Amino acid sequence: MYLADDIKTLHRKNVLSPWVAQGSLDVPVIVRGEGVFLIDADGKRYMDLSSGLIAVNLGHGNATVLAAMHAQIDRLCFSPPNWFNDQRARLGEALVAISPWGDEGARVFFTTSGAQANEDAVKFARASTGRQKVLSAYRSFHGSSSGASALTGENRRWYNEPGTPGDVVHFWGPYPYRSPFFTDDPATETQRALHHLRETIEAEDPARVAAILVEPVVGSNGVVVPPPGYLAGLRALCDEFGICLIFDEVMTGFGRTGAPFAAQRFGVTPDIISFAKGVTSAYVPLGGVLVREQLASAYDSKPLGSGHTYSGHPLAMAAGLGAITAYREGSYFQRGMRIESWLREKLGKLQEKHDVIGDVRGLGAFFCLEFVKDRSTREPLIAWQGKDLGPMPALFRALRERGVYTFGRYNIMIVAPPLIVEETELDEAIASLDGALDALTAGRRS
Ligand SMILES: Cc1ncc(COP(=O)(O)O)c(C=O)c1O
Repeated sequence: MYLADDIKTLHRKNVLSPWVAQGSLDVPVIVRGEGVFLIDADGKRYMDLSSGLIAVNLGHGNATVLAAMHAQIDRLCFSPPNWFNDQRARLGEALVAISPWGDEGARVFFTTSGAQANEDAVKFARASTGRQKVLSAYRSFHGSSSGASALTGENRRWYNEPGTPGDVVHFWGPYPYRSPFFTDDPATETQRALHHLRETIEAEDPARVAAILVEPVVGSNGVVVPPPGYLAGLRALCDEFGICLIFDEVMTGFGRTGAPFAAQRFGVTPDIISFAKGVTSAYVPLGGVLVREQLASAYDSKPLGSGHTYSGHPLAMAAGLGAITAYREGSYFQRGMRIESWLREKLGKLQEKHDVIGDVRGLGAFFCLEFVKDRSTREPLIAWQGKDLGPMPALFRALRERGVYTFGRYNIMIVAPPLIVEETELDEAIASLDGALDALTAGRRS
């Protein structure tokens, strides 16, 4: 039996961890999960306030998902991806049933990650339009494989540069709290953001633009909820210029926004949806692309130009089926609406107490806190994409000490609990956050 310190040593010696300087990593050794809690090698419990990476939507150890996986393990753990498979057919049906296309229908192409899903979504858009360019937002993350990095707007793209020139063009999306369009009025933000996008499309030649790819709610770049009318405006621009609209619902899918997909929450239907994470509550790696029937039927008579060994892997299919059953039986696709009302109230109260919280925003079970030096000027507590993380690592450490894990970047902290969370559990986590913020403020004063 290894002790926690031995495991840390073993890990540091043998494993490369994503995105961090390896020498600086000092985090708990997680060995178990139970409901909304992660449990470390010393038995300490951490409330998982960001559902892993906004993925474990059903919490840890959901019995329905586990039973589906156990049953499948005994039956079949691999089948050729282009032979028929019972679990794959059934999960395809279940996903199409919760998709936003209604009577038109859709079909699913399975991948193993969100990055792969986005790369395949772009392939489908290029094939169906015969065009090459993709427009995506600066403040976006779409994955870190080469193609998905190029689609990403923020600094995690830089590691992969240069991409292929002319393939992807970035534009500014709306960001009501820090408007790139010099306004505090949401309606003006929408209008100017759409005007900027129209000009970008025109400058790039609409006849060359295959797709506009967006996160319907910007996720790891600060839970930016689009102002009213923006997504509908995107749909209208795509219709006008014959461009495919792709929603990257890797974070927003599977109940995160209070609906199966953000498309339904906002009442705007894209042509393609990429998904991952919540489809299996992240128990098994699975991603995919939902393609509306109008586009998917083109492949009845021509080959589909993509494939992966693990496309539609039976174990992942079983986990997905178990998860969809669990979402449906527990009404978890809708539960985000209830969690939204709790988070709005409780995080709002926290903001009243702590000046360092400049903005609280979000919807469903998907919120963030944006920290500032000064509420009136909105000067960020630390610079976005800067090298100096200031007091943020200490804040996350203080939270961990108080038994809460959550995900953040720069001056943003995401609050996105599993959809099974109880109000009392949220109260405890927010009390810990309050304590960690008190410590931060005391540290800044001294
Ligand atoms: C919106 C969005 N798209 C794509 C991805 C990439 O997914 P994956 O890490 O499964 O490749 C992420 C990951 O966080 C994401 O948040």
